[in-house]
Amino acid sequence: MIHMEKKVWKVAVVGCGSFANGQYLPNISKEASAVCVATADIVEERAVAACEKYGIPHHYASVHELLEKCPEVEIIIDAASIQAHHEINMAALSHGKHLISQKPAAPTVEMMTEQIELAKKMGVQFVCAPIHNMRYDLNIIKRMIEDGTIGHAYYAKSNMAHGGPEYFQYRQADPSWFFEPGAGALVDMGVHGIQQVTYLMGPAKTVTCVAACTTPLRPVRSGAFDGKPIQADRMPDEYLIALEFEGNRLGFIDCGFSQKASKQPQLEVFGDLGTIAVTKPYMTNPQPDVYIDSPERGIRGWMQPMPWVNPPQKLNSQCCLLRDLIEAVEQNKRPVLNAEHARHVLEIMCAIDECLKTGGKVALHTTF
Ligand SMILES: NC(=O)c1ccc[n+]([C@@H]2O[C@H](COP(=O)([O-])OP(=O)(O)OC[C@H]3O[C@@H](n4cnc5c(N)ncnc54)[C@H](O)[C@@H]3O)[C@@H](O)[C@H]2O)c1
Repeated sequence: MIHMEKKVWKVAVVGCGSFANGQYLPNISKEASAVCVATADIVEERAVAACEKYGIPHHYASVHELLEKCPEVEIIIDAASIQAHHEINMAALSHGKHLISQKPAAPTVEMMTEQIELAKKMGVQFVCAPIHNMRYDLNIIKRMIEDGTIGHAYYAKSNMAHGGPEYFQYRQADPSWFFEPGAGALVDMGVHGIQQVTYLMGPAKTVTCVAACTTPLRPVRSGAFDGKPIQADRMPDEYLIALEFEGNRLGFIDCGFSQKASKQPQLEVFGDLGTIAVTKPYMTNPQPDVYIDSPERGIRGWMQPMPWVNPPQKLNSQCCLLRDLIEAVEQNKRPVLNAEHARHVLEIMCAIDECLKTGGKVALHTTF
């Protein structure tokens, strides 16, 4: 009998900040048959520190140096700050590397299309964060919607906010960039809610939005830069986003750096026969709560359904997108976290700028 050795994919992480250290570097070999062979960061000490901490052999001062000097790398994880994503992604793709990008992968729909076309041309797979399409609870909800559990599911509502990256995350890196052009609450938080709502409801037809800058001056409240004041008045930090879908269905996303705490469910879906709600953190793989209105059985009320015989896969870490990418490459299939969906989410975020300028509703054109 011939024993085929399982391939071990060689991964590099570009951008060794909070997220890479918290989610990617410790989980690469746990999530997939893969090993991290290199890191890069424009602040090279961070790439060096990551190598020392995780026993990684090579570190570089940029993605370009990494691509030139470490050709063995097969998969790049772009975990750099948002403004750097397009340059890093284009460099990785043009060298024929499979790519995982943190969100948003590009600042405009046109640039995102450039990345998608380049990935196709180079014959590589391209997976985009965030990871909601892989969630246990979200896939249960998606199946319930399709099965008609709550009848006609006509409205999905997401609440995606926290007090700000300077408020609650214990960062070694300076969080000021979150409030600079190209970043901000919409691309950092809105992206999560828009992805969830569109994953459940499909591509949106139109978007409209109101927004406000609630907290123009933000002192850092934790981590290495504790006490540093951040001028945060260049863009809104609270957005109320409304989406329209085919079939008289709606979506609403309340997102921002404006809620120090909230007791609202992160996600609810309403139908004519009931409601589905997620009230627990999604990384705990919660079972959604379901309210059923069944007049023919004479009952109405909340229930927590038992798991199915074939439940969706549970999440172990935010590095699960490496599993999605490798499965897509090995099985030559479309990733769950495909770049076309990420582009639709990006189109909505870009259209919001226009909504805020004109006060109107903007038609959407991309699909997934
Ligand atoms: N739940 C989530 O999905 C989630 C949560 C937090 C952050 N993020 C995302 O992760 C990414 C990183 O966020 P973070 O919180 O780790 O920020 P961070 O500031 O802690 O780290 C960013 C790192 O990128 C490095 N960097 C910047 N430009 C670079 C370049 N051109 N080349 C190489 N390295 C570069 C910085 O030096 C820094 O070390 C962002 O896209 C952010 O939106 C996602």
